[in-house]
Amino acid sequence: MAMKLDGVVPFGRSWDEYVQMFQLTETDLQKSILGVGDGPASFNAEGTKLGYNIKSIDPLYKFTAKEIKTRFDQVVDNIIEQIKQTPQDWVWTYHGSLEGLRKNRERAIDNFCQDYEQGKLEQRYEIGELPKLQYRDRQFQLGLCSHFLFLYSQQFDVNFHLQGIREMLRVCEQVRIFPLLTLMLERSPHLEPVIQQLTRDGYNCEIIPVPYELQRGGNEMLKITSPDAE
Ligand SMILES: C[S@@+](CC[C@H](N)C(=O)[O-])C[C@H]1O[C@@H](n2cnc3c(N)ncnc32)[C@H](O)[C@@H]1O
Repeated sequence: MAMKLDGVVPFGRSWDEYVQMFQLTETDLQKSILGVGDGPASFNAEGTKLGYNIKSIDPLYKFTAKEIKTRFDQVVDNIIEQIKQTPQDWVWTYHGSLEGLRKNRERAIDNFCQDYEQGKLEQRYEIGELPKLQYRDRQFQLGLCSHFLFLYSQQFDVNFHLQGIREMLRVCEQVRIFPLLTLMLERSPHLEPVIQQLTRDGYNCEIIPVPYELQRGGNEMLKITSPDAE
């Protein structure tokens, strides 16, 4: 489906947030990494500077950095106001406050925008979207998906999730997904059926508690490993 920018909230997370959400160790970071739905996160920009090997894909990458940043500027006040209206839904241990969250999101998109043109030239940012990826079987060792799968469970059904995750497992030896909550702060109804089916397929699925939490209760990630990659 063609993506329209006026339906997108381009909020991106930082390198440090990815490290915490996915419990990335130095051993993990040495792997070839595919970030699926990385949007305007600064994971790739910051990680590349540190010398790691990361490719990000997102349908958003058909737009320019300027277009993505303009959309961010249009929606940021409204999103921050919505969060302010629902204080019971958020945990501030990481960002400290609403102002801290806003600053971190602004810093992430600024880092992303500064890196974007060069990253496109280096094919570190490529247009792509689930449920079909344009990469070879096992082209990557580690696949990450932050704040897309499970979060948008109302918009994408269980079949989309299963197809998308199987596709990530085709191109990556291991896949990690965070968070496991929907936008309504409940565990995704797709989580159990997905785990059951992937376990039947022979994958090892683990739900792992992580130190990062912003959505209240959203401090778990799903790690799925191919049997021959363990
Ligand atoms: C909430 S943002 C998360 C961005 C980033 N992963 C992060 O955590 O900071 C969700 C992202 O999913 C992307 N997206 C939408 N449909 C997608 C699809 N079918 N496959 C992959 N990514 C998709 C959006 O463009 C957006 O950038």
